[in-house]
Amino acid sequence: MASLLRLLLPLFLCCVVLFSHQVKCDGVDEEDSLLRGINGYRASTLNLKILTKNANAECLADEIADQLKNQPCTNTTGANTVPGTEPQFSDYPKLLAKCHLNVSNTRDGVIMPACVPSLVPSLVLTNFTKSQYSESLNDTKYTGIGIGSEDNWIVVVLTTNTPDGSFTNAQGSQDEEESASSVPKISLVPYLLCLLMGFIFHL
Ligand SMILES: *[C@@H]1O[C@H](CO)[C@@H](O)[C@H](O)[C@H]1NC(C)=O
Ligand SMILES: *[C@@H]1O[C@H](CO)[C@@H](O)[C@H](O)[C@H]1NC(C)=O
Ligand SMILES: *[C@@H]1O[C@H](CO)[C@@H](O)[C@H](O)[C@H]1NC(C)=O
Ligand SMILES: *[C@@H]1O[C@H](CO)[C@@H](O)[C@H](O)[C@H]1NC(C)=O
Repeated sequence: MASLLRLLLPLFLCCVVLFSHQVKCDGVDEEDSLLRGINGYRASTLNLKILTKNANAECLADEIADQLKNQPCTNTTGANTVPGTEPQFSDYPKLLAKCHLNVSNTRDGVIMPACVPSLVPSLVLTNFTKSQYSESLNDTKYTGIGIGSEDNWIVVVLTTNTPDGSFTNAQGSQDEEESASSVPKISLVPYLLCLLMGFIFHL
């Protein structure tokens, strides 16, 4: 009995540590916090309607964050980008297609990437509310929002309620991929590591 406890306790502690680490790494907290921050800013400072979540815009934001994740934060990237020198994504049509979108239903939207080391929530929010991006947040034509993040990058995509910016699914493609990607991605690796650690502690 005692030896079983000796095996299980470190295993349990290790799982708690790894699991909380993994959840934090996922960026979901940062995305939720930014969404609340932006909608709070819209409602209280700008007196505009809150933005509603758009799953396809979120998908695109995730894809773009994934492309940017290896770029370092500098004073010319993200919210500091000089207008007109925004990063071009060579495979942009591919990213759109992955999210069941195409140019004709996204061209009125806007893509706003920001780079903030460790995605510190207060800095992330001001990178949108106190930068060139604030103009878009204060634009009544935008009604929807999707947020994605990877490492130090967080990307906001705004959508409109017109056909050219609706980010609705392209005709004919059904959303198998979307439903697959909305399933939480919980990797088995931390659990295998836990098991291994448990054995090491036990020996
Ligand atoms: C960005 O940083 C570099 C060096 O760190 C500096 O020379 C440059 O003036 C800065 N640019 C802006 C726009 O602040
Ligand atoms: C944006 O984030 C950077 C960190 O990368 C920070 O230095 C900067 O002050 C932030 N900008 C604004 C306008 O909040
Ligand atoms: C938002 O836009 C309105 C109307 O264009 C303008 O009057 C207001 O000053 C703007 N607010 C901010 C915080 O930029
Ligand atoms: C883009 O999607 C729209 C709406 O679903 C569709 O009518 C249009 O044909 C598509 N365009 C391209 C180039 O695929």
